[in-house]
Amino acid sequence: MPAQFHNPVATYFGGGSLSQITSLTDGQTVALVIFPEARGLGLVDKIQALLGDRLVHIVEDVQPNPDVAQLRGTYERFWQQASECETVLAVGGGSAIDTAKALMVGTESGSFDELLSLLATGKPFTPHRLKSLIAAPTTAGTGSEVTPWATIWDSAQQKKYSLHLPCTWPTAAIIDPDLMLTVPASVTVSTGLDALSHALESIWNVNANPISDTFAISAIEDILECLPQLRQDLTSRELRSRMALAALKAGMAFSNTKTALAHSISYEMTLRHGLPHGIACSFTLPFVLGLAWGRDPARDQTLQRVFGNDLGKAQTRLRDFLHSLDVKTEFGDYGVTESEAQEMVLYAMQGARGKNFIGTKAA
Ligand SMILES: NC(=O)c1ccc[n+]([C@@H]2O[C@H](COP(=O)([O-])OP(=O)(O)OC[C@H]3O[C@@H](n4cnc5c(N)ncnc54)[C@H](O)[C@@H]3O)[C@@H](O)[C@H]2O)c1
Repeated sequence: MPAQFHNPVATYFGGGSLSQITSLTDGQTVALVIFPEARGLGLVDKIQALLGDRLVHIVEDVQPNPDVAQLRGTYERFWQQASECETVLAVGGGSAIDTAKALMVGTESGSFDELLSLLATGKPFTPHRLKSLIAAPTTAGTGSEVTPWATIWDSAQQKKYSLHLPCTWPTAAIIDPDLMLTVPASVTVSTGLDALSHALESIWNVNANPISDTFAISAIEDILECLPQLRQDLTSRELRSRMALAALKAGMAFSNTKTALAHSISYEMTLRHGLPHGIACSFTLPFVLGLAWGRDPARDQTLQRVFGNDLGKAQTRLRDFLHSLDVKTEFGDYGVTESEAQEMVLYAMQGARGKNFIGTKAA
C-alpha cells in the first residue's frame, strides 16, 4: 500500500499573517470566537478594523477546555443570533478553535443537546446546516487549526465527546506567531508539550507513514531545542516563530494519524485530576516510549532517528527534558497510585485513541 497523506487546509504562516483574514473572508459575514484576554490585548479591536461591518457576532467568553455546561448557551445564542453568517473565525488556543468547530455544525432544531446526541452515537452524520471555519491559533500547541476534530468536555459527567466529521476541517489556518507573544510561561510550556505529544503519538501509531514521520521528527527536534529557550525568553519573536512552526508540523503529522495512548490516558487525568491538557498528555511520554519501543522495526527506526538506539538513554532524555520544564513524570506525582495507574493505562488502551497505539495489541 502506498503511503497517503491528506490535509485540505489552506495554511498561511508568518508574523503579521493575521491580516489575511480580510481577503479570506471577502464578501462574507463573519462570527468571531476569541479567547477572553484578547479584548484587553487590543486584538478584538484589531480584528474589527480588519473586518469592518462584516463582523456580525462575537463570542469572547471561551473557557479552557470547552465544556457542555457553557457551550450549550453559546451554541444556542449563536444559532439564534448569527445563523445567517457564513464564516466562523476562531482566534485563540485549542479551546477557542474547538468551540468554533462545535458552533459551525448546525442542528435542525438549533439545540445543543441535539448535537450532543448525534456525537454520543460516535457515528458520522451530515449536519443540517454548516458554516466554514478559519482558524488562527494563538497558542503553539493543539494543531486544531489543521485537524478536523474537536474535543467537547463534560466535566460534571466525567466524560468527553469527539466531534469529527469530513466537513469540520478548517478551510484556512493562519499561523501568526506574533499572536503568541502574550502567552504566559505556564501555557507556553503546556501547549508546547501538547505539540511534542502529538508528534510522538503520530510515530508510535498504527496509522503512521513516512510522510507523517517527516513532519513529526522535525517537530520533535525543534521542540526539544526551542521550548526551554522560549520559556526563558517569552518575548522573542524568533523563538515564538520556531515553536509556532513546530506545533504546526506536529499538527500536520497527527492530522493524518490521530493521537494514541498518551492522549487516551490524558483524558482521565484531565477529567479526574484536573491536569491541563498539555501536561496530561505529555507527563507519560517517557513511560509510553518504553511501551512502544521494540514493537515494530519501522517505528523503532523512526524513534531512533530522534533518540538514538538506547531506550534507557532515550527515556532519560525525555524525562530530563520534562523535568527541566518543571513537569513531573510519574503518576504518583499527581496522586495516582500504582494500581490506579495500571488500571488507567489498560482502560486507555481500549479507548478509540488507545487503539491507535502500536503497543496496544501486544499488551
Ligand atoms: N482539536 C484538536 O485537534 C485538539 C488537539 C489538542 C487539544 N485540543 C483541545 O484544545 C484545548 C486546549 O487548548 P490550548 O492548550 O491551546 O489552551 P486554551 O485554548 O485553553 O488556552 C489556555 C489559556 O491561555 C489563554 N490564551 C490563549 N491564547 C493567549 C494569548 N495569545 N495570550 C494570552 N493568553 C492566551 C486562554 O484564554 C486560556 O486561558 C483543550 O480543550 C483540548 O482538548 C484540541
